[in-house]
Amino acid sequence: MTHAPLKVAVLASGRGSNLAALIAARDAGSLPVEFVLVGSDKASAGALLLAEAAGIPALALNPKDYPDRPGFDRALFARVAASGAELLVLAGFMRVIDGAVVAEWEGRAINIHPSLLPKYPGLHTHRRCLEAGDAEHGASVHFVTAELDGGPVVAQARIPVGAGDTEISLAERLLAEEHRLLPAVVGAIAEGRLRWNGAAMFDGQPLTTPLTLAQLS
Ligand code: GAR
Repeated sequence: MTHAPLKVAVLASGRGSNLAALIAARDAGSLPVEFVLVGSDKASAGALLLAEAAGIPALALNPKDYPDRPGFDRALFARVAASGAELLVLAGFMRVIDGAVVAEWEGRAINIHPSLLPKYPGLHTHRRCLEAGDAEHGASVHFVTAELDGGPVVAQARIPVGAGDTEISLAERLLAEEHRLLPAVVGAIAEGRLRWNGAAMFDGQPLTTPLTLAQLS
């Protein structure tokens, strides 16, 4: 069955390597999406340059231009809505989003986070994993709620932690997995395999445990 490409907006605060992975998957013909907007809270974000190079509308709004966080979030999300996006992907968007604003995107917004959630929401996930002596690290994609790095987890990629691992080596190995995981999840949504129906559904069944890359391919 063929589907119209899913209209996708991406928000990113930084270098945008996950955005680059999404664009590469789309260019390779393995991701049936149309990118309608890349937005950022940082005018210097590398993600904006990547968007411009790929011919995707790029937008930076400065939080300092708004009286408060809800005001900024309302303005940014109004632009996302105006783009016609059907799915919003947070790919390194490093802000907590106002609860009322995010509620309007329930089941239509996903976030990638570099930990095996619910472990280590927030910052310094690789360091915290090493300090805890975990044997395993990973990345999670979850539907977005008002809770920071909260919301139902839909997919995870796992890597073993080795004795010689450092924050840098872990981050590097995990990022390679993120670059496979995020396009796979977006692809599953674009193909209608992964849906939100008050809860996450995969292939018509409620999702009870996070999907693996193998299940998504
Ligand atoms: C990624 O590792 C992503 O998982 C993380 O930010 C990085 C962005 O890298 N996101 C979070 O920590 C969200 N809480 P990128 O700009 O190269 O895609």
